[in-house]
Amino acid sequence: MRSFMGRDILSLKDFERSEFFRLFEVALEMDEIARSRKNTDLLKEKTLVTAFYQPSTRTRLAHEAAMHRLGGHVTGFSDAKMTRAGDWYQESIKDTVHMLEYYGDAIVMRHFQQGAPAEAAKWASVPIINAGDGWGEHPTQVLTDLYTIWNELGTIDGLTFLCIGDMRMRTMHSISYALTQFDTQVYYVSPPEMSLTDDFKKELDAKNLVYHEADHVADVIDKADVIYMEPVVQPDYTKARQEASADKGMTPDNYKVTRQLLKEKAKPDSIILHSLPRMDELPPDVDGTRHARYWEEAFNGVVMRMSILASVLGATE
Ligand code: CP
Repeated sequence: MRSFMGRDILSLKDFERSEFFRLFEVALEMDEIARSRKNTDLLKEKTLVTAFYQPSTRTRLAHEAAMHRLGGHVTGFSDAKMTRAGDWYQESIKDTVHMLEYYGDAIVMRHFQQGAPAEAAKWASVPIINAGDGWGEHPTQVLTDLYTIWNELGTIDGLTFLCIGDMRMRTMHSISYALTQFDTQVYYVSPPEMSLTDDFKKELDAKNLVYHEADHVADVIDKADVIYMEPVVQPDYTKARQEASADKGMTPDNYKVTRQLLKEKAKPDSIILHSLPRMDELPPDVDGTRHARYWEEAFNGVVMRMSILASVLGATE
């Protein structure tokens, strides 16, 4: 297994099976710290730089909370418009990260351009963590999600996943790459214009992922151990920011998971993950069912970021 020390976390495409379990094991140790709401001094000498060129609630604050729990420091920006990258100068990623690498020991970057964190990694001497790049990938979210499943169900192997939403979405790319390392099968349900692209299917075929496509959640929900959801009503992830129109639209029933549907068709022990924010695809009354695990997922968002930061900053070796 490759060491995590000093490593960029850009994609799950080349993650090895053993590397998932290593981060899960470290996360288990971190769980105790986060759950007791205490801070340690594991990263007291380290600083995390946050470079967010796109809005975020969870990903940025979970990384910041994780760094605080580990006794480290945080600096950075959450509104690129107030930096030289977002004003008249339109400063390049190269020049920006050449600055940021002197301000901290790791950089977590969200960007509207696919590949921007990989570009940053070319120029930075400190680890770059991809916090979501356009439609590209969202590796730390999916590591959080897989850790949640492993923690809740005790395994990832042997499970059937139902992925519902926009298959252009970065989480859908990262989870599909990740699942190629496990003995799983996946049912994808999406609107036709948001379905798996031919190029992406070729990649999944080359990695031997067993998957199927279906039109309606109701046709396949009975097969799922894990119901993995994203909105189909959502902004354009290739834009820095998008305001909502007066009529955002509603989610068709094909892509919704309701309390009624769960009662009538889902496996009794199936679990629902949703990285949030949600629209109407997951009504709030599902929160009170035994299937909901998205609040555990949210807590684990801090735990997994603690695991990643401690690992790339060399505190676990
Ligand atoms: N799930 C997720 O990436 O949330 P944020 O956009 O709030 O970071």
